[in-house]
Amino acid sequence: MSKVIVVIGAQWGDEGKGKIVDLLAERFDVVARYQGGHNAGHSVKVGDKSYALHLIPSGIIHPGKTCVLGNGMVIDPIAFFAEADRLAAQGLSVTPERVKVSSRAHLILPYHRALDHTSEERLGNEKVGTTLRGIGPAYEDKAGRRGIRVADAMNPEVLRSRIERNIEDANIIIRQYRGTELKPAEVFAEIAPLAERMRAFVTDTTHFINRAVREGRSVLVEGAQATLLDVDHGTYPFVTSSSTTSGGVSSGLGLPPQKISGVLGIVRTYSTRVGEGPFPTEMLGGEDEIGQLIRERGHEYGVSTGRPRRCGWFDAFATRYAAEINGFDTVALTKLDILDALDEIKVCVGYRRGGEDCESFPAVSQELREVEPVYETLPGWRTSTEGMTELDDLPKAARDYVDFISERIGVPVGLVSTGPERTQTILVRDSALAGWLEP
Ligand code: IMO
Ligand code: MG
Repeated sequence: MSKVIVVIGAQWGDEGKGKIVDLLAERFDVVARYQGGHNAGHSVKVGDKSYALHLIPSGIIHPGKTCVLGNGMVIDPIAFFAEADRLAAQGLSVTPERVKVSSRAHLILPYHRALDHTSEERLGNEKVGTTLRGIGPAYEDKAGRRGIRVADAMNPEVLRSRIERNIEDANIIIRQYRGTELKPAEVFAEIAPLAERMRAFVTDTTHFINRAVREGRSVLVEGAQATLLDVDHGTYPFVTSSSTTSGGVSSGLGLPPQKISGVLGIVRTYSTRVGEGPFPTEMLGGEDEIGQLIRERGHEYGVSTGRPRRCGWFDAFATRYAAEINGFDTVALTKLDILDALDEIKVCVGYRRGGEDCESFPAVSQELREVEPVYETLPGWRTSTEGMTELDDLPKAARDYVDFISERIGVPVGLVSTGPERTQTILVRDSALAGWLEP
């Protein structure tokens, strides 16, 4: 029977999706992305090799797997070939046989990047803190029905005329706020050869993936960004511009919801956030030292942008909300070993605002800024868990921490990650996740 398993970040991103997808990929035939673009930064460590993936699904590291860039994605052709060439230089095979780019995906073009910069500058103190990759403006064009799709770029005359039309509009804003403008002929001259090079990769991925499922092949769906960055369910407006949750999979791949056989949440044992926006459990003031410690131990710097990540305590209230929206069947808990150095560990189990308990995750960012996290404090274990592969080997306090998180978010734990390497993993026997890994 074919299986379709979806992997979703439960927090604000960087939960360790890359490692987990890489780990699972071995057991699947197809690995597909359904949203976002090269704002993602998924890192995978295999032996002494490290790979940084932004656009291309992490399945590329496994020989013989097919990678799909679905219709819900926004694809920068410059970034696509830069990444493909970089991975090829690392010895991976990045060929049209293995990589399928949806003809319905939208292109990110240089004016989207310029508009992303302009928009952030104009927002000043209220900026989103985007990755400046042009993601938001490309999705704006998509919703505004003026986007350029991969299929359009296959016809040079269509590509030229759409670029001319769209740059004319973009220049109105860029000229006013940046005093420069983009030249359509230059943009066309840069993009046209890349579009031509992309031709061999272009596929009706909707048809491809539905046929794969029909024929009994298994599909691993790799989410990028995360639940709290979802354009509908996240901490709007401090979100990305796509549907990052499991609901986005159907529209982003053209795969009916009944075909999805399971949803795995990736949950890091503490919280981080890059960019602006409310973050109730952020370590500030007196706790900033712990935040620094976690940032250094966990290498919490962006894979895409190098920005230091803001660090905070685990937020069970927010993660429970993520579990509800996505329907997590099970979760993978990542980076447990990073907490080895702590004397005690706090977990946020609820929010209070204006003296009252919040019943649900606040919809308004300003309200989220005003909430007071309610913490429970658990003892640390102060001993190394790095590289452990058995649940029973964990120190009791670490085991209790894992159980506490599971109970508070209401989802069973299927895996605990104890280091960046594939082998540094505890797979929980009899879990849904273990079942998905069976041949
Ligand atoms: P992975 O897949 C963490 C954040 C940005 C910003 C907001 C909007 O590696 O977990 P955008 O450029 O998407 O318009 O920025 O979203 N953001 C991420 N944060 N991990 C990511 O990806 C992110 N992709 C975007 O920092 O706050
Ligand atoms: Mg990342």
